[in-house]
Amino acid sequence: MEKTIKRIGVLTSGGDSPGMNAAVRAVVRTAVAYGIECVGIRRGWQGLITSDFVQLDAASVGHILSRGGTILYTARSEDFMSEKGRKKAVATCKMLGLEAIVAIGGDGTFRGALELSRLGIPVVGVPATIDNDIGCTNYTIGFDTACNTAIECIDRLRDTMQSHERCSVVEVMGRNAGFLALYVGIAIGATAVLVPERELDFEHDVVERIRNARLAGSTHFMVVVAEGAGSAVEIGKMIHEAIGIEPRVTVLGHIQRGGSPNARDRETATRMGYFAVKALAEGRGNLIIGTRGGDIVETPIEEALNMKKHLQMDRYTVLETMSVSLAPRH
Ligand code: F6P
Repeated sequence: MEKTIKRIGVLTSGGDSPGMNAAVRAVVRTAVAYGIECVGIRRGWQGLITSDFVQLDAASVGHILSRGGTILYTARSEDFMSEKGRKKAVATCKMLGLEAIVAIGGDGTFRGALELSRLGIPVVGVPATIDNDIGCTNYTIGFDTACNTAIECIDRLRDTMQSHERCSVVEVMGRNAGFLALYVGIAIGATAVLVPERELDFEHDVVERIRNARLAGSTHFMVVVAEGAGSAVEIGKMIHEAIGIEPRVTVLGHIQRGGSPNARDRETATRMGYFAVKALAEGRGNLIIGTRGGDIVETPIEEALNMKKHLQMDRYTVLETMSVSLAPRH
């Protein structure tokens, strides 16, 4: 194997996601295979400012593949937003002899990566966020596990909603994106799904759907709200006012971020971590690893940050079609 650099750092930053540990393991083990030393930076970009680090080798990342969270801890660093903070981070890189950084995280992590790369430290990003909202990649590590966690929770809710003939309003995460909500909504057969990418027509999107489902014989209703589309509590109140039924509201929250990564997340994280280090070993930096059509792709960080990811509205049509079929035929 070609060896171009001697020492790299790896960090996890922003909101954690299932599969981050699998990515850390892949980075370290690939580095070892290339004869590159790997230093773990703790607490994301903040750790680079405060010199919070740990030497990693192949053995130190044993038995973490199946663990949720991140052994490196994570943070959203305020200090790294300032030039002063970033200069300290560069000084830490010099002090530790780090020639490049692999940064595992989401959009905020990659904005930090761009700033650091501008100060002369090459960075390769590995996308890991349950929001799946990174433009340069079809998929982000953690999304599938988070969807499955939400599905499991909602299936449980459905049992009790069915027994009591109730309406449930469930809020899922996703920040400003509706990927998680729409995917989960299709998978649990939601009566309605509210996403930030689609302007809400409450009467049509919620009230009519519940009424139609009721007319078609349904006695319980499941409404999924993406956190970026509004508050489930508010939507619950609006349903109460409009139809008279009193929904039960559940905010799934951080439960969606924990847990052991599933097969897709372990496999994707391992491949992405491998290709991140391979790129650095081959002399390429300042890029973000992604997947497209199942293949690994590389996109320059600046270009990647300007790429928008659009919610596939055909999926919304699929969802609507499923609940429309419940409506009585005229
Ligand atoms: O980006 C991941 C995410 O879980 C979002 O879905 C959510 O909006 C946010 O992080 C929550 O952040 P925090 O953990 O700081 O509350």
